[in-house]
Amino acid sequence: MRIAMIGSGYVGLVSGACLADFGHEVACVDKDEAKVSALQAGRIPIYEPGLDDLVSDNVKAGRLSFTTDLAKGVEDAEVIFIAVGTPARRGDGHADLSFVYDAARSIAPLLRKFTVVVTKSTVPVGTGDEIEKIIRKTNPSADVAVVSNPEFLREGAAIDDFRRPDRIVVGLSDERAQSVMTEVYRPLYLNQAPLLFTGRRTAELIKYAGNAFLAMKITFINEIADLCEQTGANVQQVAQGIGLDNRIGPKFLHAGPGYGGSCFPKDTVALVKTAQDYGTPLRLVETTVAVNTARKRAIARKIIAACGGSVSDRKIAILGLTFKPNTDDMRESPALDIIQALQDGGAMISAYDPEGIPNARAMVDSVEFGSDPYETARDAEALVIVTEWNAFRAMDFKRLKQVMKTPLLVDLRNIYRKDEVRSHGFGYIGVGRPTEDYLSPVRLNVTAQSS
Ligand SMILES: NC(=O)c1ccc[n+]([C@@H]2O[C@H](COP(=O)([O-])OP(=O)(O)OC[C@H]3O[C@@H](n4cnc5c(N)ncnc54)[C@H](O)[C@@H]3O)[C@@H](O)[C@H]2O)c1
Repeated sequence: MRIAMIGSGYVGLVSGACLADFGHEVACVDKDEAKVSALQAGRIPIYEPGLDDLVSDNVKAGRLSFTTDLAKGVEDAEVIFIAVGTPARRGDGHADLSFVYDAARSIAPLLRKFTVVVTKSTVPVGTGDEIEKIIRKTNPSADVAVVSNPEFLREGAAIDDFRRPDRIVVGLSDERAQSVMTEVYRPLYLNQAPLLFTGRRTAELIKYAGNAFLAMKITFINEIADLCEQTGANVQQVAQGIGLDNRIGPKFLHAGPGYGGSCFPKDTVALVKTAQDYGTPLRLVETTVAVNTARKRAIARKIIAACGGSVSDRKIAILGLTFKPNTDDMRESPALDIIQALQDGGAMISAYDPEGIPNARAMVDSVEFGSDPYETARDAEALVIVTEWNAFRAMDFKRLKQVMKTPLLVDLRNIYRKDEVRSHGFGYIGVGRPTEDYLSPVRLNVTAQSS
């Protein structure tokens, strides 16, 4: 099958490479010349585990190619995926659909035979109708079916998610398009991945409802964590206790600094806006957005409190900048808000991330970047784990203690056991762990100086 993928970012590139790996012939199109030149030269512009080998294998096999030339990319394509960005629109938070509509306008005149145009970008309910209108207006004779096929892959595990999805959602009403989409996903379908056909609007809404539900789940456990801190309960055990209930499930119940990333923040806000426009406000999602936004600065206040109430002219070391491990994606990362709030409090920030530093450089000011956790922690009065990269899970506390001004670990992902950290003479603060986790800052400093 000939497939064109418009947009070769995190979703387009992974999807394109995986579809090529199924045996399809895929042309990935992007308007970003630097990105396409890098891909043509065998360089992967993003960090995603396993993607370099997958791309190079399929390029070598002649099934995957990259171009900025849309006409060339869509030539003879039976299926054209649109996987361009849908960021939050400046000012009001609605999804900015200009990239999607531009793509629809540009492909319309190039359609010569029956073609299935598939929206993989996350788009508000009703966008497929608009795309269809644009194509029909630009090219009234086009034989086209517009389909919604939202993507659920997670950065950091994207290839595995694409190959072993929980489900594939396809929204359409055209029977020819249904058999084309079945053909596209045949290898997964044979692998028992449920292919769920729905109406187009339903498919569009499934994506937002799914993300909003997960964002709510994270936010719920974050609020429970705050309550645990006040009551002496342990949020990890609460999460385990409720997660063992099959109706709830254990995933997305890890308390932390609040959700971030390229999807949840913008998708929850866009869903809130859509629902308000339709006169059916989603209060739970509205509250989720508000709670999560407030949480990031609250977490910074927690760090400041751990440092004795002030970070003015004190160095705070941050470990982990990306919104989650195994990606270089910095979009809406909680680290950005936390760093800003600490800087507002007068802190000097040093930071380290295994993959996120190049992107982070463009997004934060006055941050000194280290080349490993130990260099980053030098002279710091607190070491804060913001993102739980594996590289931070087995740190040498003896070495850290030698370089830090005050041995204090603020573990925003609860990856350490407090006893273990304390046994090295460190102060330790987690999220939603028992109150005995909290030594008063004064005592922390005394411990630090006396040891
Ligand atoms: N990143 C994720 O984890 C994820 C997961 C599921 C769904 N999504 C959704 O998928 C969509 C894409 O997200 P992403 O993270 O891959 O974005 P991205 O910013 O990484 O990539 C988008 C790409 O589209 C290109 N582009 C924009 N307009 C174009 C045009 N007219 N022609 C050709 N190329 C064009 C851009 O240059 C860019 O390379 C969004 O709607 C997002 O919400 C993302």
